[in-house]
Amino acid sequence: MAWALLLGLLLLTALAAPSQGNRPRATSRLRYSRFLDPSNVIFLRWDFDLKAEIITFELQVRTAGWVGLGIRNRSTSVQSDLVVGGVLPDGNVYFSDQHLVDEDTLEEDGSQDAELLELTEDSVYTTMRFSRPFRSCDPHDLDIRSDTMRVQAAYGLDDTPRLDRERTFVKSIFLLQIVHPDDLDVPEDTIIHDLEITDFLIPEDDTTYACTFLPLPIVSKKHHIYKFEPKLINHNETMVHHIILYACGNTSVLPTGIGDCYGADPAFSLCSQIIVGWAVGGTSYQFPDDVGISIGMPLDPQWIRLEIHYSNFHNLAGVYDSSGIRVYYTAQLRKYDMGVLQLGFFTFPIHFIPPGAESFMSYGLCKTEKFEEMNGAPIPDLQIYGYLLHTHLAGRALRTVQYRNGTQLRTICKDDAYDFNLQETRDLPHRVEIKPGDELLVECHYETLDRDSLTFGGPSTINEMCLVFLFYYPRNNISSCMGYPDILYVAHELGEEASDSMEGMMAMNNVEWTPESIKKAERACKEAQQMVIIKTIEEAVENTTGWIPEIIPTPRGPCLESSGGKVEPQDKTPAGARAAPAALSGSGTATVRCLSLAALLLGQGAISWLLATLQAGV
Ligand SMILES: *[C@@H]1O[C@H](CO)[C@@H](O)[C@H](O)[C@H]1NC(C)=O
Ligand SMILES: *[C@@H]1O[C@H](CO)[C@@H](O)[C@H](O)[C@H]1NC(C)=O
Ligand SMILES: *[C@@H]1O[C@H](CO)[C@@H](O)[C@H](O)[C@H]1NC(C)=O
Ligand SMILES: *[C@@H]1O[C@H](CO)[C@@H](O)[C@H](O)[C@H]1NC(C)=O
Ligand SMILES: *[C@@H]1O[C@H](CO)[C@@H](O)[C@H](O)[C@H]1NC(C)=O
Ligand SMILES: *[C@@H]1O[C@H](CO)[C@@H](O)[C@H](O)[C@H]1NC(C)=O
Repeated sequence: MAWALLLGLLLLTALAAPSQGNRPRATSRLRYSRFLDPSNVIFLRWDFDLKAEIITFELQVRTAGWVGLGIRNRSTSVQSDLVVGGVLPDGNVYFSDQHLVDEDTLEEDGSQDAELLELTEDSVYTTMRFSRPFRSCDPHDLDIRSDTMRVQAAYGLDDTPRLDRERTFVKSIFLLQIVHPDDLDVPEDTIIHDLEITDFLIPEDDTTYACTFLPLPIVSKKHHIYKFEPKLINHNETMVHHIILYACGNTSVLPTGIGDCYGADPAFSLCSQIIVGWAVGGTSYQFPDDVGISIGMPLDPQWIRLEIHYSNFHNLAGVYDSSGIRVYYTAQLRKYDMGVLQLGFFTFPIHFIPPGAESFMSYGLCKTEKFEEMNGAPIPDLQIYGYLLHTHLAGRALRTVQYRNGTQLRTICKDDAYDFNLQETRDLPHRVEIKPGDELLVECHYETLDRDSLTFGGPSTINEMCLVFLFYYPRNNISSCMGYPDILYVAHELGEEASDSMEGMMAMNNVEWTPESIKKAERACKEAQQMVIIKTIEEAVENTTGWIPEIIPTPRGPCLESSGGKVEPQDKTPAGARAAPAALSGSGTATVRCLSLAALLLGQGAISWLLATLQAGV
């Protein structure tokens, strides 16, 4: 009996071992997965250990040739790393950690940092599973960070690894995502409600932002929304790129029908408080167990703006869409109502980004000292559990840094490799507490090498934004807290004459933008006094002033020495609107000049009106 058992065990072990080599077969379930190419030939699964800082990938490709997976440098394909492997016709496997020396030539790394776990080939697929440290000590390996990663996959039809553009794909993925399990108890009284666009004829343009206003469920008592799920119509290619839901205040008069979100009618950009973001490749979003969005109470949002970004790169005609977001809600209330705190640079043309900038930083300050007095009741500490970062096409990175009593506490959230096409709700690995009195600084990093005129703050994709939405509980009455610099100071530092803010904004157009003047403007915007505007959900407004604190960089931890090894055979700028924004010009500004800055900043539709007035004269 015992012998039979032992024999059985030995047999099992032998069967479980890979055909070649002596490495263990890792069969643990990998939590995350995604197709990496539009034709669904390349499938990636992955998982990671945040403590040990190790990530495991399993790449499955419909080929009998070599396969490769790595991380690509956003700005250049050279220097990206690629771990390649395959199974030879005789059954022997090969595996090695390589990098690109030019667009299509691979070279083996001096240090082998990827560890092979499994490499198999059947009649359909080649499957390669390996692990690597987040940060190896090899300069040829790009770090796996808590940023949007450009994941690069490639394969061939034979066993000679050589890059071929037709079989190389790059996809933005936030690899180190934290998700709440989907299989939590589903309340019995769950009701679903679809927020969707109906039979929308997708224009033949490359890029369309379609917006429509829809009511949230009408309920007679308080309910909690606890889950969102994309509701997509299957087309033969991915046309829906991202979906965002914005909550509307109850004071806005909303347009009907479907409109261009950032087009001629500014009413279609009303409602700016993001409550959930989904991007292609993402799945459902479930709130943490103790949090939900309250609906049915007087101060709760009743309407939302649904924004769907379509990419129709093949300019297909006659494609109709009815995509949207499915909302799950219940009367079984969770412990806390979620709130959204909007931070960043006040969206207004005082926010300017010079053309031709390799790098330009903008800062928006929030001071929370007035929160309590504005709230109308004591404010419990805010427990931040998630966030969404938002800029338009020139945005390259964002971060939110927290200060208490003049001391930097932490970076709450950041993305050093922001991708406009991957705006999604992300959860923090640990909840972060904000106390009344703390200061919150948002830093936005832009690049405008392809632009030849100024970019201004505004709602359209040709304008820019610098926003961070923090998701927290318990909810309070504060909705936004955003800053902007004293533009008069900035103008004077740049040697321009200006006697009020309007002239200050216009003066930026007279500056000759060179690398020196760009740096000077960046420094002046950072040194200038910040005006901080705080709003409540009932649109009460207060302001205060402050100064941009220094950001002390967080030191990086040590790299992990190699534990892997080679195995020898013997053993697109997002394609958004790219029109150059019209420059501020002197004409048409006479009436604008008469209005106070406060009236302009806070008036309904003031930004669109101001931008339109200024740009009409060009
Ligand atoms: C990408 O390449 C650029 C230019 O060579 C370099 O400055 C940058 O540090 C690289 N980024 C990463 C994440 O390696
Ligand atoms: C998708 O379908 C349309 C017709 O419905 C066709 O013209 C187009 O070529 C297809 N695209 C792909 C990538 O198969
Ligand atoms: C918005 O809600 C508040 C609180 O219930 C209410 O006082 C106010 O009248 C509402 N405004 C509109 C336009 O419905
Ligand atoms: C800030 O410092 C003051 C005095 O040092 C102290 O009384 C206060 O509690 C501190 N605030 C916080 C939030 O730690
Ligand atoms: C919001 O403000 C009202 C007074 O305007 C106050 O009664 C209420 O408690 C506040 N809500 C929260 C969640 O603090
Ligand atoms: C700031 O508040 C003061 C006093 O309430 C007000 O006079 C001023 O117009 C406000 N400024 C802005 C830009 O809102």
